[in-house]
Amino acid sequence: MTNQQILLAARPTGLPKESDFRLVESPIPVPVEGEFLVRAIYLSVDPYMRGRMNDRKSYIEPVALGAVMGGESVGRVVQSKHADYPEGSTVVGQFGWQEYAVSDGRGVRQVDPSLGPISTALHVLGMPGLTAYFCLFDTCQFQAGDTVVVSAAAGAVGSTVGQLVKLSGGRAVGIAGSDEKIDWITGPLGFDGGLNYKTTDNYVEGLKPLCPDGIDVYYDNVGGPITDAVFPLLNLRARIGICGQISQYNLEEPEYGPRLLWHLIVKRATIRGFLVFDYFDRAAEGFGKLAGWLREGRLQYRERITDGIENGPRAFIEMLQGANIGKQLVRVSQE
Ligand SMILES: NC(=O)c1ccc[n+]([C@@H]2O[C@H](COP(=O)([O-])OP(=O)(O)OC[C@H]3O[C@@H](n4cnc5c(N)ncnc54)[C@H](OP(=O)(O)O)[C@@H]3O)[C@@H](O)[C@H]2O)c1
Repeated sequence: MTNQQILLAARPTGLPKESDFRLVESPIPVPVEGEFLVRAIYLSVDPYMRGRMNDRKSYIEPVALGAVMGGESVGRVVQSKHADYPEGSTVVGQFGWQEYAVSDGRGVRQVDPSLGPISTALHVLGMPGLTAYFCLFDTCQFQAGDTVVVSAAAGAVGSTVGQLVKLSGGRAVGIAGSDEKIDWITGPLGFDGGLNYKTTDNYVEGLKPLCPDGIDVYYDNVGGPITDAVFPLLNLRARIGICGQISQYNLEEPEYGPRLLWHLIVKRATIRGFLVFDYFDRAAEGFGKLAGWLREGRLQYRERITDGIENGPRAFIEMLQGANIGKQLVRVSQE
């Protein structure tokens, strides 16, 4: 019995390659008093991890070369010397890209399997769900009646944002990279409109008919030219939440600085950065709301599951390229 781990072997240049990672086998760690051993079931691959592969700190430390790649997973406690985490309990935490991890419980959350499939602890009932909830309602100050445009709209965060807008009395317009994604968000998810940016030449002209009354909130997950296209359509006192800038993550030099800011003068608009870490002390509020909507059948989600920890790097790269509809996960072991 060994512990399969994915190490960061090289700092990627541009889009990461599978050769930037290395699969190794180590002995399974043994918990001491006050610790427990977790066996991962699902591993989350998230866009922010791209920043951790660089050699500079942003809001989170870089992963050291040769270290186990950092990341959140949901798993089961298989051995315990910690009273609060008995064997058989399901937990989510920063256990890294590996099959087994020892923890003392810091930063670990118990998962209540009665709320939904345990994988949801990595998306709609996890960090991406909190991101959607707090950035929309707090940072973007969403109000009923607002028209909200969200980019990366068919991903884990964006698909939740649009649904929160709909169930709170707003108009949701999503921007995403395939017709299949647009069909999902405007069909089952109930968005009012969708724009496939990969088949649209002029984003402003594409958005105009979808937002006949202008844009009150822009929930930005991508930055770059998509964000530029939203600015001319902003309404008076519009709010822009900068949640992510995925179009810039693989660039060696940022391609776009703040641009077209004169629109903010004309519209007296507000632009504000968001970081989910700032809301962890309010996580119970967010999880309570999200779990309620999920139970009532008012929130839907999709998952793209890649099997095998050895395929973690490929799943991560494919997510950056937009292969996922909904949340990209890696299944490390069977439930
Ligand atoms: N600030 C925070 O605290 C926080 C927390 C969580 C997530 N985020 C951010 O939220 C965003 C979404 O995260 P997620 O976990 O929900 O990921 P996701 O949307 O499930 O997956 C990423 C998606 O980004 C899209 N994308 C990739 N390159 C793009 C480009 N050049 N232009 C436009 N879209 C592109 C792809 O979809 P398409 O097919 O549509 O291109 C891809 O499916 C990311 O920017 C992430 O960094 C921020």
